[in-house]
Amino acid sequence: MLAAMTQQQKIGIGIAIVMVVGGLVYLVSSLRRGPGVGAEIEIAPNRRPYLNDDQLEGPKLDRSLTWAMVMLGILAVGLPAYWLREPHRQAGNGFDRGKAWFAAKAVTDGLRLFQAAPGVPPTPREAHFGCETCHGVKGIGGSTTFSILTDPANPKSAQRQVKWQCPPLNTVALRYRDDEIKTIIVYGRQGTPMPPWGVAGGGPMNDQQINDLIAYLHSIALSPKDAQAASLKDYGSTDGKALFDGYCARCHTQGYSYGEPGVEGGGGSLGFSLVDGATKRRFPDIASHVEWVTNTAEFGKAYGIGGISHGVMPHFGDLLSADQIKAIVDYERTL
Ligand code: HEC
Ligand code: HEC
Repeated sequence: MLAAMTQQQKIGIGIAIVMVVGGLVYLVSSLRRGPGVGAEIEIAPNRRPYLNDDQLEGPKLDRSLTWAMVMLGILAVGLPAYWLREPHRQAGNGFDRGKAWFAAKAVTDGLRLFQAAPGVPPTPREAHFGCETCHGVKGIGGSTTFSILTDPANPKSAQRQVKWQCPPLNTVALRYRDDEIKTIIVYGRQGTPMPPWGVAGGGPMNDQQINDLIAYLHSIALSPKDAQAASLKDYGSTDGKALFDGYCARCHTQGYSYGEPGVEGGGGSLGFSLVDGATKRRFPDIASHVEWVTNTAEFGKAYGIGGISHGVMPHFGDLLSADQIKAIVDYERTL
């Protein structure tokens, strides 16, 4: 156990031992030195003769001042010495181990939140929010039933059930920046089965829980290499339409997520309509179109001609190869 300790821990334990032993010695010796239990009845402590004036103002005063000087010296030297070591300590093993501990705890807490509740109701300390019931175990994707209006134009029309695809989340860390993932989780996606989870969106989760979930999503994220290999296997790199349907249509084609696609690329649950030359107007040169699909832009930044990013569209540069993105862009420009 001693070997596993850092230098600081060893010193700290040394100091603690010295203090405890010193305290005990003081206690025992002061008990033994006193006149003994009951003696105060015969001779009260305040009636014992004390030092005379000469002794008080001479050796006694000198001794007290000397000790004060020694203590001051310890403080004056000790504190700067402690401060000097502090950056080293933070950069060193102890601090890194602390950080690693918190990072690992964030992932295990995030996993628990992601999992379905073993028994209802979950207690606040052991909360489970069941992301996996829709997004699949380890975020491999899934589907869920959802009620939509039979007539979208009429809010009073009857509802009917559809089966809505839930996107895989083991690539979400490749497609979104952390602040974008956070916004999605906090506010959910109105009009889709994805509910708001954060307090700001009207959900039950605090900031810490959402950060833990994001840590968990990072821990299950495929490497860009593995993700690209899987994508190449599934879609190849030349069929723009197949790639568009696989990665873009769920947002850019109405009804695509529940198997009732409307106009291909004509606007969907989230994304703008890309038809009738919309992309060519937004991106007169193809390079800026490719750049958008590859990297998108941070919230509030401009893109293309007159576009302002809302930080909602995923970027595909880590998930798809350059050839695949080029094939999709070429296809989009024909819509
Ligand atoms: C009732 C089902 C359901 C539950 C439970 C659920 N989600 Fe979702 N989630 C969805 C659906 C459906 C979408 C896609 C909506 C759309 O079509 O745009 C989605 C989208 C997302 C996205 C965006 C992914 C992307 O590629 O667009 C993230 C991130 C996400 N969910 C995280 C979570 C987390 C974290 C939890 C648990 C706290 C959770 N979801 C629980 C249904 C669900
Ligand atoms: C999660 C939903 C979502 C997915 C998936 C998605 N997009 Fe988007 N896309 C959007 C949103 C939202 C916008 C609007 C941008 C904004 O407001 O920031 C957008 C904008 C665009 C634009 C610019 C349109 C304009 O007029 O400004 C293009 C081009 C585009 N997407 C292409 C794609 C391609 C290609 C894919 C697939 C590789 C894709 N999108 C996947 C949501 C999505």
